[in-house]
Amino acid sequence: MIIKPMIRNNLCMNAHPTGSAAWVDEQIQWAEQQPTFAGPKRVLVIGGSGGYGLSSRLIAGINAGAGSLNVAFERPPTEKRTGTVGWYTSAHLDRRLQERNLPAKTIMGDAFSLEIKQQAIEAIREMFGKVDLVVYSLASGVRTDPATGEQFRSTLKPIGSSFSERSIDPIEGHLTHVTIDPASDEEIRHTVKVMGGEDWLLWIEALAEADVLAEGATTTAYSYIGPKITYPVYRHGTIGRAKDHLEATAAEIEGRLGSLGVRAFVSVNKAVVTRASAVIPVVPLYLAILFKVMKKHGLHEDCTQQMYRLFADRLYGGSSVPTDEEGRIRVDDWEMREDIQKEVLDTWDLVTQDTLETHTDLPGYRHEFLAIHGFDIAGIDYDADVAVGG
Ligand SMILES: NC(=O)c1ccc[n+]([C@@H]2O[C@H](COP(=O)([O-])OP(=O)(O)OC[C@H]3O[C@@H](n4cnc5c(N)ncnc54)[C@H](O)[C@@H]3O)[C@@H](O)[C@H]2O)c1
Repeated sequence: MIIKPMIRNNLCMNAHPTGSAAWVDEQIQWAEQQPTFAGPKRVLVIGGSGGYGLSSRLIAGINAGAGSLNVAFERPPTEKRTGTVGWYTSAHLDRRLQERNLPAKTIMGDAFSLEIKQQAIEAIREMFGKVDLVVYSLASGVRTDPATGEQFRSTLKPIGSSFSERSIDPIEGHLTHVTIDPASDEEIRHTVKVMGGEDWLLWIEALAEADVLAEGATTTAYSYIGPKITYPVYRHGTIGRAKDHLEATAAEIEGRLGSLGVRAFVSVNKAVVTRASAVIPVVPLYLAILFKVMKKHGLHEDCTQQMYRLFADRLYGGSSVPTDEEGRIRVDDWEMREDIQKEVLDTWDLVTQDTLETHTDLPGYRHEFLAIHGFDIAGIDYDADVAVGG
């Protein structure tokens, strides 16, 4: 099959199998050039097929020599249709880690379910007995509560009043305008159920109960704060409520698992291009400006570079983990620097359709968006017939 990107509403519906593998190799090559560090050896990544989860797994494997189990929810290829990108990236990273004699395996299925938690526990027993790091990096729109069978859907909406702002169609290069009505109480509750910390806690408790969590193990989940311009739709919106809950869950995990000495951290990461962030209103325009500003200052990072800094400098960088006053790790520190934010917000006011190319790094955004789906990768012949099975 000859595979070209199929993009609708900032969502890429397909993926290129050999391009996705080559993209993973690019990330590995970057990691190989960084110093190794004494880190975890047995890792569980929940949501490790893309974005921050994939990069966490890759850095733990390449730079700390960790074996890893990945749990992700991706669609396999069929004769007529490619799989989702995480299907290919997971299989390829498994292969690359195994080539280094590291235990590496992926379980495809719904991480919110009891069955997948049980399967993961059995796999951990077989692979390495216990885990010393659990990364929780899910981004999902839907969750079925395993106790009640009730289904919850997350939304990206403001709370209290409606919100209007400019956004962008990064592929077409058009400025757009979005107006979003405020969420109902029900929508807020649903979003917290899906993207809050409830399932993170369930995972940690299930692992502890099955005795596959090592004493003194670390667990981390990822959050975002971002600029004032996105507050209404992000930090002060429905997803922000879920992130508040996720952040509070870190303390709850430490409280409940104190006897095992478990350390639980939320890391506030910077904004990057992932499948999840591409569909958040306003964020793509912010990202296109942020890229331009951070590249100009030599501070740009993608997922893999952020996760290297999180692991090497923060989680495993010394005897204690530096946090803010609320106990959160901050690897969004460069993004949130006062001078960077000022420049981004000043630029925001200058952007018009005519000045889009001048004031934003649209080509950089487009490249990263395509690359995370296996497109626009140097050396790949996109006119060649490829097997969708990868
Ligand atoms: N992208 C950003 O800019 C950004 C910034 C800061 C924090 N974060 C946070 O990082 C975390 C990961 O987000 P991302 O942007 O890397 O997302 P992503 O879309 O790249 O990856 C999400 C992962 O979750 C998995 N997943 C989704 N539903 C699942 C299910 N039911 N069962 C098993 N796996 C499932 C997917 O397979 C994938 O591996 C989120 O908590 C997000 O809020 C993202």
